[in-house]
Amino acid sequence: MSNPAPGGGKNVDPALSLLARAATGKPGPHPPVWFMRQAGRSLPEYRTLRAGTAMLDACRQPELITEITLQPVRRHGVDAAILFSDIVVPLVAIGLEIDIVPGVGPVVDQPIRSSADLDLLRELSATDVPYITDAIRALTAELGPTPLIGFAGAPFTLASYLIEGGPSRDHARTKALMHGQPVLWHALLNRLAVIAREFLRVQIDAGAAAVQLFDSWAGALSRADYERFVLPHSRSVLEPLSDAGVPRIHFGVGTNEFLDLMRAAGAEVVGVDWRIPLDEAVRRIGPAAVVQGNLDPALLLADWPVIEREVRRIVAEGRTAAGHVFNLGHGVLPDTDPGVIGRVVELVHSLGS
Ligand code: CP3
Repeated sequence: MSNPAPGGGKNVDPALSLLARAATGKPGPHPPVWFMRQAGRSLPEYRTLRAGTAMLDACRQPELITEITLQPVRRHGVDAAILFSDIVVPLVAIGLEIDIVPGVGPVVDQPIRSSADLDLLRELSATDVPYITDAIRALTAELGPTPLIGFAGAPFTLASYLIEGGPSRDHARTKALMHGQPVLWHALLNRLAVIAREFLRVQIDAGAAAVQLFDSWAGALSRADYERFVLPHSRSVLEPLSDAGVPRIHFGVGTNEFLDLMRAAGAEVVGVDWRIPLDEAVRRIGPAAVVQGNLDPALLLADWPVIEREVRRIVAEGRTAAGHVFNLGHGVLPDTDPGVIGRVVELVHSLGS
């Protein structure tokens, strides 16, 4: 077969998972549903397993990765697993000194601010991340027909952590470098794109049935700046993976002004945060759009009738798209009651595409 359709590649059950169906605009019984950050602190069994192990140590132990990735699939009956890892894992794997501080996020020992610092960012190869390959092989065996989603941080979001030295509200140093030193900016994003692409390739080669590129903080940018300073690099992550035959999902928060560009970067599926309805997202992207989202994660803490109304609205609005993958507009909040997540899965499954 030449040029296999996305989702129809070697890693997908011939019966086509719900995720692969939605991503390629094929009808299915109901939208597939999974949750960003479904593996993590909302689950007591996660907290038990993680006790005494630092986040980045957990991310490098295949048995822990495998078990934590499976926990939400077992508990909630979601239609996809997402690999338990973090966007900084490939950067740590090539030797950067980064820690994930609880309640803060990634903190970088030596921020990148000059062209000399670029030497820290060598290329990544599969031998740098054997624990990822081992975990994905174990996972695909355990998961059977349930697809495993691999992921990477997009060049902009990674650059923001590296330049700021940690999480940032205004991304000021990042934007100053972007506009003030564009040659350095493009050299930095180019290196991060090579790393992210290779990291996704390793995951696909090991058996990931879909990939998601997280550009969580790209919403800090104007459309014009995104187009000029970021899009070419995210495209160089996603586009070369078109031959892999797995759906590519591209997600950001606050990126509704340039959802069409995020699709144009080379994604079958565009993630939408909670700020606009999915039918409006489809108008912005175009009629062939496949969208993922977009329940506000905070609403999982509301009373059930509120959640039910919102889920029904989102599924109805998702029917205006060529395909819809039900998800949150961003990740599960740590205080979420896991029982509520399971109820949302059951409700989506009862609604029909
Ligand atoms: O989605 C999943 O269930 C898979 C696991 C996953 C994690 N991080 C686990 C994690 C994924 C896909 C990520 C990606 C990630 N990491 C992103 C992109 C997604 C997003 O949320 O926008 C970003 C920006 C990061 C960086 C990062 N890592 C942050 C901001 C934090 C939170 C810091 C905190 O403690 O509040 C982390 C830590 C992290 N990553 C945790 C988990 C389960 C919590 C650490 C812990 O349990 O001790």
